[in-house]
Amino acid sequence: MKKLMRALAGERQDIPPVWMMRQAGRYLPEYRETRAQAGDFLSLCYNSELAAEVTLQPIRRYGFDAAIMFADILLIPQALGAELWFVTGEGPRLTPVDDAAKLDALKPADAVHETLAPIYETLRILKRELPAETALIGFAGAPWTVATYMVAGRGTPDQAPAHAMKDTAPEAFDRLIDLISEATIEYLSAQIDAGAEVVKLFDSWAGSLKGEDFDRYALAPAKRIIGALKARHPDTPVIAFPRQAGERYIGFAKAVGAECCALDTSVSPEWAARFVQRDGCVQGNLDPALLVTGGAELQRATREIRDALSGGPHIFNLGHGITPDADPENVHLMLEALRSA
Ligand code: CP3
Repeated sequence: MKKLMRALAGERQDIPPVWMMRQAGRYLPEYRETRAQAGDFLSLCYNSELAAEVTLQPIRRYGFDAAIMFADILLIPQALGAELWFVTGEGPRLTPVDDAAKLDALKPADAVHETLAPIYETLRILKRELPAETALIGFAGAPWTVATYMVAGRGTPDQAPAHAMKDTAPEAFDRLIDLISEATIEYLSAQIDAGAEVVKLFDSWAGSLKGEDFDRYALAPAKRIIGALKARHPDTPVIAFPRQAGERYIGFAKAVGAECCALDTSVSPEWAARFVQRDGCVQGNLDPALLVTGGAELQRATREIRDALSGGPHIFNLGHGITPDADPENVHLMLEALRSA
């Protein structure tokens, strides 16, 4: 069995499998070149040949244990009919969906395949071209995180527009969460049919949900999506990432039916070993800033995470995506530290 799949099946390994969030990205010169060839970022996402090429680039350079298909969590709102574009240096923009009328104008969940067909083709190409030992990961954004971008029409530091809509127009907001949940079930299920061996659900803004809101908008939608996927694809493991969930990391994977819980940098690996890993595999959680600064501190932190989580199943990763200013040589340094005593 592939190293990543063994960890997800609950096996402890002396050297954990490793991959990096945003491993295909702007820190790599070969990515920047292919992206320039594609035109803009979205054209790259929908160009199956080039999207497969950038997915393979970090595998060739570093021999990671997993490849994550190249796409974006905001393709789902676009497939539902919201307009999406990226402003260079600033980030995503969407036509806001912040009331019942705009929600009514969106397409039904099963219409998403029309727009997302090129993503499935990317996966079919990767299935053919990846080395036999490399696992293929598909993904989607979790409904709350996707809704924060849809309601605001852009990224926000505090997700205030989505919080306002859930508090002042709860019926419309719940309908939005339901629509995204149904579309995500369709999307992830089609990714698995096209060759994804693992799927990951990114809830990047889960940490802004407190108390009952966390249960209602982070936990319940993840549980619903994973339950529906398991009914169709019982053997495909799921990685859940309720970023900055803090103490709500405890028991989260079990509650939603995921095999693995991904951790951000706000929790210590020692704490995660005690309170999260007892439920199964954990993934994380090196600070991506260390791939900018490098040196002995990068090597020390890498070994500390590996050793703290060595008592159970672990997938080594970052706590968030690698940044454009990271030095590609530092990734080699991290891998050497991880794979040596
Ligand atoms: O991890 C991977 O290598 C797979 C591809 C992937 C991308 N985005 C490519 C991307 C994945 C898994 C994502 C997830 C994603 N996208 C999340 C969840 C994880 C997280 O970062 O919290 C979110 C919130 C988004 C939405 C998004 N996409 C934003 C806010 C931005 C702009 C900020 C930025 O980093 O530029 C993007 C753009 C984006 N998505 C890039 C890449 C490689 C950079 C675009 C470029 O090449 O110009």
